[in-house]
Amino acid sequence: MDNTYGENVHILNHPLITHKISILRDKNTGTNEFRQLVEEIAMLMGFVALADLPMKDVEVDTPIEHTTVKMLAGRKLAIVPILRAGLGMVSGLTALVPSAKIGHIGMYRDESTHEPVEYFCKLPSPIEERTIVVCDPMLATGGSAVDAISQIKRHGGKKIKFICIIAAPEGIKKLSAMHPDIQIYIGNVDRCLNENAYICPGLGDAGDRIFGTK
Ligand code: PRP
Ligand code: URA
Repeated sequence: MDNTYGENVHILNHPLITHKISILRDKNTGTNEFRQLVEEIAMLMGFVALADLPMKDVEVDTPIEHTTVKMLAGRKLAIVPILRAGLGMVSGLTALVPSAKIGHIGMYRDESTHEPVEYFCKLPSPIEERTIVVCDPMLATGGSAVDAISQIKRHGGKKIKFICIIAAPEGIKKLSAMHPDIQIYIGNVDRCLNENAYICPGLGDAGDRIFGTK
């Protein structure tokens, strides 16, 4: 873990995750493999990000004796993908916690201003009692993530984690400054943004590569 951006920013830089991200970066990686890798990376990242889920004691009878074991406490996890590209990470996260509820936030970046435009928000209730995992493969300017998390907070969300596969330094700084109370999990940090606010070297447009559009 790297603390350059503060203690709430967790840069995973794990060989298994980095290897899979490197395949995503290749422009010759096709839609099918891209989608599969995004799912796998989300699962690996979720494993780390959910390490502090609360547990409770439960009584069980093993074939040998009666004992007290630990199990996840309650069914209070919400996974909230930022549409569209965040959808590609949902199956990897629900594989870890099948009982999680799923919300959706629709955001797209205006192509000329690069400002986020919100078009949809539906969250599972009671949102204020849930650990909320917001997912989006890309954190570029940070505008989409900042607005999505502001919207979740307006609906009452409190305990929020954000998982992204690739981030630009600009986006990390903005998100951690605007929402210092959330935990941010990042696969790899890239060099910078280009004049079109795309991450360099990045992987291109995550939504288009997951859904095979454009
Ligand atoms: C992409 C990506 C993020 C956003 C990141 O979505 O999935 O949501 O851009 O950029 P930002 O940090 O500068 O806001 P996009 O707007 O391309 O929409 P899509 O997922 O529907 O393709
Ligand atoms: N959104 C993407 O999908 N890719 C980028 O590089 C920046 C924003």
